Amino acid sequence: PAPQKKSAPKTSDLCKGCKEVIEKVMQRYSQPWKKQEDNYQKSRSQLNSKCHGFEKAIITQANTPVGTKLVYDGEKRRSLQVTPEISSTFTKEHPFPNKTWDTCAVVGNGGILANSGCGEMIDSAQFVIRCNLPPLKNGFEKHVGVKTDLVTANPSILLEKYGALMGRRRPFVESLQIYGNSLLLLPAFSYGHNTPVSLRAAYTIEDFGSPIRPVFFNPEYLQKLAAFWRGQGLRAVRLSTGIIMASLALELCRDVHLYGFWPFSSHPHGLYDLTNHYYDDRKTKTKFHAMPAEFELLLRLHSQGVLKLHLGDCR
Ligand code: CDP
Repeated sequence: PAPQKKSAPKTSDLCKGCKEVIEKVMQRYSQPWKKQEDNYQKSRSQLNSKCHGFEKAIITQANTPVGTKLVYDGEKRRSLQVTPEISSTFTKEHPFPNKTWDTCAVVGNGGILANSGCGEMIDSAQFVIRCNLPPLKNGFEKHVGVKTDLVTANPSILLEKYGALMGRRRPFVESLQIYGNSLLLLPAFSYGHNTPVSLRAAYTIEDFGSPIRPVFFNPEYLQKLAAFWRGQGLRAVRLSTGIIMASLALELCRDVHLYGFWPFSSHPHGLYDLTNHYYDDRKTKTKFHAMPAEFELLLRLHSQGVLKLHLGDCR
């Protein structure tokens, strides 16, 4: 017999139970949102006293002097003693001026942002944080904005898209132009293989005179933050970049707005299919991250008036 023609999978096949989960989420989300100053202050001071993100999330020459032993947060048995050469790649000044920003937008890469019309609203924030060198041009501007004050880069992107910076480096430098003079935050000391490629990224930026400012995550901060969320019930091998940046934003900003956080495969309104990212459909490694569980925690903070999650369109 002729092989049966397979029809395209429906959302309901891809995401069993998704519809029910989404309905429950939207019920909670539809309550009117108001910032609860006391809850916000409580979360912020808890994060600050346990993780010290404001002072320590980013390595500086002052908070991590030559001789410091850095313990890798992804490989506990690996450590590295800071040499003068490595120290010269650390920023001298504290990357955050000693003040709190009024409004911050943390932009996750979820497909929910596609066609959202949120670009203007995102760009109106005083400080805009983006994850993993996302594309911003060619029609995305209207939906995700362009303003960038801090952008993270997972070294896997440097390996896959830029040949680990072992060959020509100009395409990498050119791709950074859209982020202007923002901070480029790299997890250089999370896994052993992250270190050489992150240092090469920093040297490349310096050699080409690119205005972007490379900085490194402090592995001690990442490890403390993972313990913090574990204490809130999160069971995941690794925190996702998005929850790390949302946590840091709570220490840095008075009003924290989250966009592009939606780890489900259908849209909250209308339940039509979504891609995983607003720019492609590469899947998240569920082996490491627990994005729906993280989302649950972020939704809790939203309901408590600590931060504001933006789920619908912004038009
Ligand atoms: O590096 P990672 O795989 O964690 O992130 P990504 O896929 O580049 O997306 C950046 C962040 O957006 C993630 O860390 C998540 O927090 C968030 N995200 C989401 O909430 N829902 C999605 N469908 C995709 C990303």
